[in-house]
Amino acid sequence: MPVPGPGYSITVRVEAPPSASAAGDLTSAVGRVGGVITAFDVVESHSDRVVVDITCNAVSANHARDITEALEALPGVAVRKVSDRTFLMHLGGKIEVTAKVALRNRDDLSRAYTPGVARICQAIAENPDDARRLTIKRNTVAVVTDGSAVLGLGNLGPAAALPVMEGKAALFKKFAGVDAWPVCLDTQDTEEIIRTVQLIAPVYGGINLEDIAAPRCFEIEARLRDLLDIPVFHDDQHGTAICVVAALRNALRVVGKSMADCKIVVCGVGAAGSAIIRLLLQRGPADVIAVDVDGIVRADRPGMDPNLTWVSANTNKADLSGRLHDALVGADVFIGVSAPNLFGAEQVATMAPGAVVFALANPDPEIDPLEAQRHAAVVATGRSDYPNQINNVLAFPGVFRGLLDAQARGITDAMLLAAADALADIVDGDRLNASFIVPSVFDAAVAPAVADAVRKAATAPPAG
Ligand SMILES: NC(=O)c1ccc[n+]([C@@H]2O[C@H](COP(=O)([O-])OP(=O)(O)OC[C@H]3O[C@@H](n4cnc5c(N)ncnc54)[C@H](O)[C@@H]3O)[C@@H](O)[C@H]2O)c1
Repeated sequence: MPVPGPGYSITVRVEAPPSASAAGDLTSAVGRVGGVITAFDVVESHSDRVVVDITCNAVSANHARDITEALEALPGVAVRKVSDRTFLMHLGGKIEVTAKVALRNRDDLSRAYTPGVARICQAIAENPDDARRLTIKRNTVAVVTDGSAVLGLGNLGPAAALPVMEGKAALFKKFAGVDAWPVCLDTQDTEEIIRTVQLIAPVYGGINLEDIAAPRCFEIEARLRDLLDIPVFHDDQHGTAICVVAALRNALRVVGKSMADCKIVVCGVGAAGSAIIRLLLQRGPADVIAVDVDGIVRADRPGMDPNLTWVSANTNKADLSGRLHDALVGADVFIGVSAPNLFGAEQVATMAPGAVVFALANPDPEIDPLEAQRHAAVVATGRSDYPNQINNVLAFPGVFRGLLDAQARGITDAMLLAAADALADIVDGDRLNASFIVPSVFDAAVAPAVADAVRKAATAPPAG
């Protein structure tokens, strides 16, 4: 059941009579149709009328229209203007470039730009690695997309992907001081994407791939990792995997189980599911059962691609066949990164006692979390309106902060696992419970802890 939220927030400017009951009439009208008022500001007052800005949260664009109509229907009330606060926030974009150096006079100019800058250029030409010290490369990440899998909305193309990439860049800056810039490519050709990223790479200290559809994303990331001397990280894969492995570690602490004894069902073997499985396997679970739209992943299934073939070779020790409901019987953990409403409380009841359910499909999870709670001991979703929100922002800012600080040339599973452990450890024993297995995205301790762990893993001498 959706609830009114800031994603659909409007400010309605109305003219109303100056009577004592006007405010009550206006707020009651909004409340009657289910709107939630968050601000009520009188912006003008006259002897015959008042002008009021009513800001309220709605469930959808249609619901916002219902609220406006309810206000308009009041006697003596006229709606002057309706502003969509989300659109207002995006006007002109959400990020900007600012100079870090003062340019006050000829002296400043001569050092920041010509002639002084020429000596910096020559130093880098002689020693290209100095670019990591003397340019924005030290702290800058490209957020690269082809717009082929934008949020859960599908293939919207590069221009429509830009608001998401801007948002990502803003989060990088806010949570970890990383200067990230959107790079939305007008191509969905694997070779063109790889070549383009290779060509722009000199400017950046890392590449964050974003919202590129599976299975193309796997080849693009693997090839770029081979080609480039900076870390390449597909957040939809590895950011999710870090958060899930961290959350699962804490969920298992809550239910008192060890990973080595757990049978884990992963539903969805696309970008997120594949990366989750690969990272989870490093933690040695008893078994992982991978399930996708065609059922349990097995080597004998027709139409297997290289990703599914790898998954089939490394999962399903028990040689199960069937569909999701079959896989769930006796499972200790369900991790869903697939599609909405795939099962109900009756299937959770078939899982092992102390079941853990992570239903992460967005915006609607694989199972209604309230249904899941009837039999599961720990439930998590990707949503902000339930406890245990698993959100990639817990991982990617700190991961790149650590990589940039280490001047890392690549990224390894050891770094991803270090990030997961650091994230899990933020929730200490005193705070850990079934409703608190991951910290808040606004916990200021998260990004520094993740960054520190990644930096240490990146600078650790190679094992052996
Ligand atoms: N932190 C988070 O909460 C988080 C992070 C990443 C992804 N997600 C969500 O996970 C979902 C998948 O994301 P993705 O990028 O991996 O997508 P994807 O398109 O790459 O993969 C989707 C996978 O789901 C499977 N699937 C689809 N319908 C199914 C069904 N009815 N039964 C079983 N499997 C089914 C597909 O076969 C595929 O393997 C999305 O809803 C996304 O929003 C959430």
